[in-house]
Amino acid sequence: MADPRIMPAFEIACPDDWHVHFRDGDVLKAVVPETARSFARALVMPNLLPPVRCDSDAVAYKRRILASVPDEFEFEPLMTLYLTEESEPKLVEAAAVAGTAIAVKLYPAGATTNSASGVRNFDKIAPVLEKMAEIGMPLCVHGEVADEAVDIFDRETVFLERVLEPIRRRNPALKVVLEHVTTREGVEYVLNGGGGIAATITVHHLAINRNIMLSGGMRPHYYCLPVAKRECHREALLSAATSGSERFFLGTDSAPHLKDGKETAVACAGIFTATCAVPCLAQIFDDTGAIDRLEAFASVNGAKFYDLPQNSGKIILEKCELPVEYSKAVSAGDDSIAVFDPGFPIHWKARRCRDKLR
Ligand code: DOR
Ligand code: ZN
Repeated sequence: MADPRIMPAFEIACPDDWHVHFRDGDVLKAVVPETARSFARALVMPNLLPPVRCDSDAVAYKRRILASVPDEFEFEPLMTLYLTEESEPKLVEAAAVAGTAIAVKLYPAGATTNSASGVRNFDKIAPVLEKMAEIGMPLCVHGEVADEAVDIFDRETVFLERVLEPIRRRNPALKVVLEHVTTREGVEYVLNGGGGIAATITVHHLAINRNIMLSGGMRPHYYCLPVAKRECHREALLSAATSGSERFFLGTDSAPHLKDGKETAVACAGIFTATCAVPCLAQIFDDTGAIDRLEAFASVNGAKFYDLPQNSGKIILEKCELPVEYSKAVSAGDDSIAVFDPGFPIHWKARRCRDKLR
């Protein structure tokens, strides 16, 4: 048996990914197994074309996802509905009651990929938000203003003040997740925001700052929205994720785009991390001296926020002496999707397992 001082291995409850993009068709078939390999559940974003707007859209999409889950894994997609200015409180309530969607996603129109059907006038969604507050259905927000007059690096901070705070003042009982928080101000807002607010943090925003994308050449595979910020913001995210605070949990925002759409003059926003997300996260927590807090961030806090039980299945994390090589790309149809490269070696392997460690 390996000497555990050299190659420690331990079990944690199987992680959940509280923010993922699966798309549809060939891409869906390619990426669902990558998530199911490391996660027992994932909250699936609804920004398809056309979007997942109602109960029946969510049911049909969930069926397509389940058809791509490899037999060896138990995996549950948890569905979301796309909030539009026309969304009806009754339909949202029906999906919540039926359990076909567990949250609603707010995209400010124009803020990101497939957000054209999103919200321009936030007054128009007041009735839906009231209903959601009443029935306890969480609102997941893409927290950036889609305002060309606002510098792209400031769009999250401006959103907090201009959009999120007024929404929360009007609906104090509304549960809100500030998705993929990227700034120190966002972290502080969540920490000081009273009850009912939490944030997801991605692996890539914990791993990189904006230099990796822009210094010494422009690297489209590191471009996502919200865009990576300065190092001090990455440090704030790292402190939040490793603090043990229940308000922060993992949402990878793994967002596959075909190579054709990334390596071009106008590159799509999105980083595909599913393949290496958990090992990469283990590396980051290990380097920070916080490996003992990984389970809270990846497997406990999110389930608590969504009032769901923790997964009974386990994952084994194993530290390896030599760096572990992960696939650089995943094939999808005739094209491929580049896998996130954090820019540092990963010495961790993750393997889903129900058996006790021997
Ligand atoms: O980088 C991103 N990609 N950010 C988002 O908000 C959407 C996502 C996507 O769907 O590609
Ligand atoms: Zn996303």
